Amino acid sequence: MDRYVVIGNPVAHSLSPEIHARFALATGETLAYDRLLVEPGDFARAARGFFAAGGRGANVTLPFKVDAFEFAQERTARAEQAGAVNTLAARAGIVLGDNTDGAGLVRDLTVNLGLGLGGKRILLVGAGGAARGVVAPLLDLSPAMLVVANRTRERARELALRFRDAGPVEGVGLDAMGGGFDLVVNATSTSTRGEALALPRGLFAPGATAYDMAYGPAARPFLERARAAGANACDGLGMLVEQAAEAFFLWRERRPDTAGVIAALRAA
Ligand code: ATR
Repeated sequence: MDRYVVIGNPVAHSLSPEIHARFALATGETLAYDRLLVEPGDFARAARGFFAAGGRGANVTLPFKVDAFEFAQERTARAEQAGAVNTLAARAGIVLGDNTDGAGLVRDLTVNLGLGLGGKRILLVGAGGAARGVVAPLLDLSPAMLVVANRTRERARELALRFRDAGPVEGVGLDAMGGGFDLVVNATSTSTRGEALALPRGLFAPGATAYDMAYGPAARPFLERARAAGANACDGLGMLVEQAAEAFFLWRERRPDTAGVIAALRAA
């Protein structure tokens, strides 16, 4: 049976095995999907072992997305752009690295939430690994402006500079975010520690959406504040399922239906 894994640390709470089991059932594909806990510094050895033993593909989560980028022998354009890999696939003697996070976010925003973002103002908070992978896909939506705001201003400026040829993007500190945004995406790691970002008055335009790339209880502090400020609030569960669907497509060339899976996970 074709074998797949999600590699991370921690990985015990990853929803990926459940998501891919649902995809496999729905598409009639036969595969095995497990969790692989790897110690920091041991990624390359573990991944090499998995693929040498016939493994077909892996999802890669924190903190190994840059290790996976380096491990991949070939990379897709969007993985190169992101500087990180969240999906590995065995291909005729080599391992291909892809990054499906940005596509997953954009699909959740535009298809599942039905947002039209062309000509709109988007704020991306954070300039770490999670933010880096979604800058180009957000610019592909042709916003009027994408502001990247980060606690360490220099990181935001560097990130914006890197993508300046891809669309209107600027990098600022958290004290200079401005306001009137139609979409605010939280890509900081504050959610994973249950902290909340300060949301200045006027941040949201009327009818704005606040989106946290984390999901479940972790996203609550940010989303509660955003709701109190009048925004529609959404966690990143849809993004998680959509990035998984992109990975599934890369591996199996079948595009699973995601709406039912998102609804089932939310109900659980
Ligand atoms: P990830 O891969 O999850 O993005 P990371 O690369 O460590 O992790 O980046 C964490 C992001 O969250 C950074 O943008 C970080 O800001 P700094 O670059 O200034 O460190 C941001 N972050 C973490 N804690 C924060 C806090 N308490 N307030 C605001 N931003 C925070």
